[in-house]
Amino acid sequence: MKWLALLAAAAVVALSGAQDTDDGGELWAVLVAGSNTWFNYRHQADVCHAYQILHQHGVPDDHIIVMMVDDIAHNEENPTPGVIINRPGGPDVYKGVPKDYTGDDVTPENFLKVLSGDVEGMKGVGSGKVVRSGPNDRIFLNMVDHGAPGIFAFPYDYLNATNLTDTIIGMHRDQKFGEMVMYVESCESGSLFHNLLPKDIMVYALSASSPNQHSYACYLDTDRDTYLGDVFSIKWMEDTDRENLHHETLKKQFKLVRKEVTTSTVMHWGEIRLDRQHLSKFMGKRQASRSQQDVYLPIRGEDDPCLESAVPSPDVPVAILKSRIRRAKEVAEVDALKEELRHLRMNRVIVKVAMTRIISHVAGGAPRMASLLVASGNHTITRWPCYTASVRAFHDHCFHLAKNPYALRVLKPVISMCEHGYKAEDFTALPSSYVTRPASGHRVKERKRGEGNRRMRER
Ligand SMILES: *[C@@H]1O[C@H](CO)[C@@H](O)[C@H](O)[C@H]1NC(C)=O
Ligand SMILES: *[C@@H]1O[C@H](CO)[C@@H](O)[C@H](O)[C@H]1NC(C)=O
Ligand SMILES: *[C@@H]1O[C@H](CO)[C@@H](O)[C@H](O)[C@H]1NC(C)=O
Repeated sequence: MKWLALLAAAAVVALSGAQDTDDGGELWAVLVAGSNTWFNYRHQADVCHAYQILHQHGVPDDHIIVMMVDDIAHNEENPTPGVIINRPGGPDVYKGVPKDYTGDDVTPENFLKVLSGDVEGMKGVGSGKVVRSGPNDRIFLNMVDHGAPGIFAFPYDYLNATNLTDTIIGMHRDQKFGEMVMYVESCESGSLFHNLLPKDIMVYALSASSPNQHSYACYLDTDRDTYLGDVFSIKWMEDTDRENLHHETLKKQFKLVRKEVTTSTVMHWGEIRLDRQHLSKFMGKRQASRSQQDVYLPIRGEDDPCLESAVPSPDVPVAILKSRIRRAKEVAEVDALKEELRHLRMNRVIVKVAMTRIISHVAGGAPRMASLLVASGNHTITRWPCYTASVRAFHDHCFHLAKNPYALRVLKPVISMCEHGYKAEDFTALPSSYVTRPASGHRVKERKRGEGNRRMRER
């Protein structure tokens, strides 16, 4: 009898088509959307979709940890309360998503604790769920949000790249995983790995963009007045929804997504040879049922509605306001929206001018040097302490990077400054009068509150 059972088990394994050696390890997943507010609908939509993929393929909820502010599904702007979609006309991706860490619990500190399995550290916070992984386990990590060189944003703070890689290196040292796969969508996401992620610790990462490119949003929904997804996320997930995960390798998905994402350069990092494995090892082994697949299966036509609607992530608030202006019927509404757009643009100028003034100050009144620092954009960060300390000062004293994503866009001169041998003290010691702040106060948010009943805030 036992014999028969064994044979049957072997047959099931053969039938399921699993070709990856089964090491007995378990799969853990951490899904993080690091933004909030309606403008950023798409980040939580992406992460919810990722949850549906894992869920459909049999990964149990107690092995999936979701971090998102959760202010979208029941947002007053949502015309379909309790529903989040990730493409026009698409299915609800919010249903069943575990609410492990929401609201104020979505912080870089909590994220790193969850990932590294700090049970004690998370006691009494959210669901308390952490990755309790061992040496044979696999971890799938999906992070979606705003970014900047060396930075991944969170709603109230940011995570710097060195903290992330330090944590992962520590986890490898402590044998907290056998293999890890990371998919990251954010502007300049390549900078989280470039020169930081070792090639020999069994971690394989994909970034939506190179270290100095934007990532792109897509699928503008004019009923919801927001973008429903991000190009890289949409491409890898719609591909996953279409494929048999036991047949498609990480490598094949990378190649396909790299080709389909024409808006930025999708890159891979770390231990590349892990890419020979099948998606099923990191996204779940169970075959999705036909009916489940039909629900999620994207329509593939001649044109590509995602790419056609793609805009660089920083342009999203502007594009949304413009779309609303085009469709507004009342004169008063048009005026209010135009005023809102004008404010948003003005605040962006203020942020930019502030950085230029600070850099001029650092350059000691040498205009040639100052313009060199401001203009040269593509430095690779090597002087991390100078960069992180200066960025921290800018965040603490000038513009809150998480609440004002446009401030993330002006950090490249800080890299130049550090790489040219200036010190963080040169940057942090500047008199506060160097930053012209609008009368409204200490930290500038990227917009003024609109007059209409529909609130638009960038974060
Ligand atoms: C990041 O690393 C720095 C320096 O080691 C440390 O002071 C800081 O608390 C860390 N931040 C997080 C979020 O872990
Ligand atoms: C990294 O980021 C945290 C904010 O989360 C900050 O407190 C810390 O000082 C930063 N610096 C370094 C060196 O990691
Ligand atoms: C910097 O990178 C961007 C994006 O990759 C590119 O468009 C630009 O030409 C580069 N600039 C320089 C000076 O290399």
